[in-house]
Amino acid sequence: MRPRLHLVHIPFILCLLYLSALRASGQQLQPVRLRCEQLTDPLGIDAEHPRLSWQLSDDRNGALQQAYSIVVGIDTVAVAGGHGDHWESGRVEGAAQLVTYAGKALAPFTRYYWRVAVWDKDGHPGTARMGHFETGMMGSHHWKGAWISDGNDIQLRPAPYFRNTFAARKAIKSARAYIAVGGLYELYINGQRIGDHRLDPMYTRYDRRVLYLTHDVTAALQAGDNAIGVLLGNGWYNHQSTAVWYFHRAPWRNRPVFCMDLRITYMDGSVETLSTNEHWKTSLSPVIFNSIYTGEHYDARKEQEGWSTAGFNDSSWRPSMVRAAPAQQIVSQAMTPIREIARIPSVRMQALNDTTYLFDLGRNIAGVSHLRVSGPAGTVVRLKHGERLRKDGHVDQSNIDAHYRPTDQSDPFQTDLFILRGKGEEEFMPRFNYKGFQYVEVSASHPLRLTRESLEGREWHSDVGVSGYISSSNPVINKIWAATNNSYLANLFGYPTDCPQREKNGWTGDAHIAVETGLYGFDAITVYEKWLADHRDEQQANGVLPAIIPTSGWGYQWANGPDWTSTIALIPWNVYLFYGDTTLLAACYDHIKRYVDHITDLSPAGLTAWGLGDWVPVKSVSPVELTSSSYYFADTRVLALAAELLGKSADAVKYQALSEKIRDAINRKYLDTATGRYGKGWQTELSVPLFWGIVPAALKAKTAALLASRVAADSFHLDVGILGARAVLNALSENGYADIAYQVAAQRTYPSWGWWIENGATTLYENWNIAAMQDISLNHIMFGDINAWLYKGIGGILPDSAAPGFRHVLLKPHFVKGLAHFEARHMGPYGEIRSTWKRQGQRIIYEVSVPAGSYATVYFPAGKVSLAGKGIATDKDHRYTIPAGRYQFEVREGGVI
Ligand code: BGC
Repeated sequence: MRPRLHLVHIPFILCLLYLSALRASGQQLQPVRLRCEQLTDPLGIDAEHPRLSWQLSDDRNGALQQAYSIVVGIDTVAVAGGHGDHWESGRVEGAAQLVTYAGKALAPFTRYYWRVAVWDKDGHPGTARMGHFETGMMGSHHWKGAWISDGNDIQLRPAPYFRNTFAARKAIKSARAYIAVGGLYELYINGQRIGDHRLDPMYTRYDRRVLYLTHDVTAALQAGDNAIGVLLGNGWYNHQSTAVWYFHRAPWRNRPVFCMDLRITYMDGSVETLSTNEHWKTSLSPVIFNSIYTGEHYDARKEQEGWSTAGFNDSSWRPSMVRAAPAQQIVSQAMTPIREIARIPSVRMQALNDTTYLFDLGRNIAGVSHLRVSGPAGTVVRLKHGERLRKDGHVDQSNIDAHYRPTDQSDPFQTDLFILRGKGEEEFMPRFNYKGFQYVEVSASHPLRLTRESLEGREWHSDVGVSGYISSSNPVINKIWAATNNSYLANLFGYPTDCPQREKNGWTGDAHIAVETGLYGFDAITVYEKWLADHRDEQQANGVLPAIIPTSGWGYQWANGPDWTSTIALIPWNVYLFYGDTTLLAACYDHIKRYVDHITDLSPAGLTAWGLGDWVPVKSVSPVELTSSSYYFADTRVLALAAELLGKSADAVKYQALSEKIRDAINRKYLDTATGRYGKGWQTELSVPLFWGIVPAALKAKTAALLASRVAADSFHLDVGILGARAVLNALSENGYADIAYQVAAQRTYPSWGWWIENGATTLYENWNIAAMQDISLNHIMFGDINAWLYKGIGGILPDSAAPGFRHVLLKPHFVKGLAHFEARHMGPYGEIRSTWKRQGQRIIYEVSVPAGSYATVYFPAGKVSLAGKGIATDKDHRYTIPAGRYQFEVREGGVI
């Protein structure tokens, strides 16, 4: 019997009374979470028309913004008073909470204050709030410094130090360091490391685009003598390790190089810029080897005490050499940085012998080890990292070192070397490398005494804000959700990667599969914006993209079909859906078009077999042509929709027609119109066309029924690779089989996500088969769409492309059999959306929060619906639209109201 609905009394009536008393005062309403370019009070903004956004803090049901006004100026007092010398938008009617700056031209190196005032739905003003942003270089011509390096050969191993000194003769008001680097850097002023980022700048296609950072260094400077120190690492710029992707032969490869302007504003208003030039001195550092891919070697005996302080004697240091800039585009790194996220104590330590210890962090992470140790000078300590142990308790790297091609023994995989100075307790942590690992085997050339506390994991990744939460009555589901988050984050280092150990490659396919999981769970827009700029840098004139981005050149010929490189369309489209922001879509529009046109040139009939297909399947293999053509269709749909959005109507018509042609070609070849079956009817073959909207409306029910019985015939287990895994749960739950989708998602035996969890996984794996001999990294995100499905398929939280950024929230919860309660939350641009349900006897209590400024449509099962005890009319599809607020519904399964 179908469940029927009715509503319980809304428990917020008292609260509402109280709130309406507050209303007149306007105290309640205020803009919060002010952001510029999707960042909080950022420095170094290069955008000429930065985006400004905010949320409304307004707890009242029905809260809406009737109008807003923005002022922008350089005088904080005037701006606070509502006057902006650069922009006064005036009162603008409407609900927009993301606005593009439209005032006077912005100048470089300038702090702008902005103030947003809002009016509530009754026209009452709220409390205005202020934010600020600071412009950066705004164009390469504003740089004063020269690019310098130490001029050594690319094969030379030790990392270079650079230093310079200057005297501040006047009182300093503020100071900014602008630093652009080919490679990685750490900046020091007067002996102090600046900032808390790791692995700056982010990896780009260095010969096309190099990123610069802006640091506020006011507090680090002092009156009188000052010293600036820079330590450069190789990163992906000077890849000395050798692996199958040829990064050691990258066209940009060179000795690390940097350019820096230290811009000091004195109290008297004068400005002085101290820049890099040939007079900066350089020396080799104790970092005797560093590879982003393999590890870092540090010889503490080579430390130079005080090297970045003014009093240091640098007479033995050499002058620097002026070099060409690596690229024409030197662009601000306006994005969430990588940081140390957590310190993870070892849960276990085992002495394997008197020189070898095994540390276990208890979970798989991306990051580095931090070691505390004392021993005689010259003792060589090796820290070997891995995800597995051999039977004898030693670290086993055989599942992750397959693509490494060392030329000798001097650069061991995922291994750091620390050579002791021999003076008391010493600390080691690499700066220019990270790894994927749970276990660290520490071995020394001389017996050492270590304790469990000697080694800690330091978890690193792009420090994106958390924007999602799932909790359910099934611990396996909760663990899958956590493991998926772990793998998503362990694979976010300024660009999405496939795995943090074996490759660290920006694999396109893995990333578009994980994009919804990423955007439901994390505030990752700035990482995607940066990575799509990398796409634009890498795209060939003919539209072709490489399979990994950035690349040294590898991947333009293999694995780069539409099933992988559809990132160019799918990621901007999802960013638009989740943030209601068209910036990225507009920036990528011509690139999506070139990409789609290229596939059309290759495949004029509408079908393409270009691609890898359903990668790492369980058993059944689906035709590559079916899956690749489905992605070609999806990209063409995105292009048509984007064209419509961006007012390119001729393109909209053209690509809509093309998408229909592709869809028809797929259906003509693969669909049996009598039965609704695609191909042989494998899970991937049925679910991919369902998920991407290829199945003709009249046949959807048949195809979905076939999928449901196929899954039942597979005893409710998966029979998919990564393309099918993205589609199968959605295809089931969107077409009336949510219970079956849940049964598959919650499986605990092979093959399933739960099977990994049952075997102790804290991250997602690369292969359903844990005993596989290859493709078995233990930290891949490519099977990670399950988290997005939890938000959608059970929690029911969905964006609406017609009112994106969750301005209109679609709520389609599924009260699936087998769960007692389920909670999904997502922090969208308007605030937190909550969709949560629990069983109470025969009833289901369904609670919803819709943030101020937005509204939602709840999709109910057929039946009577009442609100606060009163019957309400849903539309013919049983939908009911609610304004912002909190609601509680009651569903009586199988009962009548
Ligand atoms: C990577 C992937 C990737 C695949 C495609 C693997 O080596 O780790 O995740 O998508 O290759 O070929």
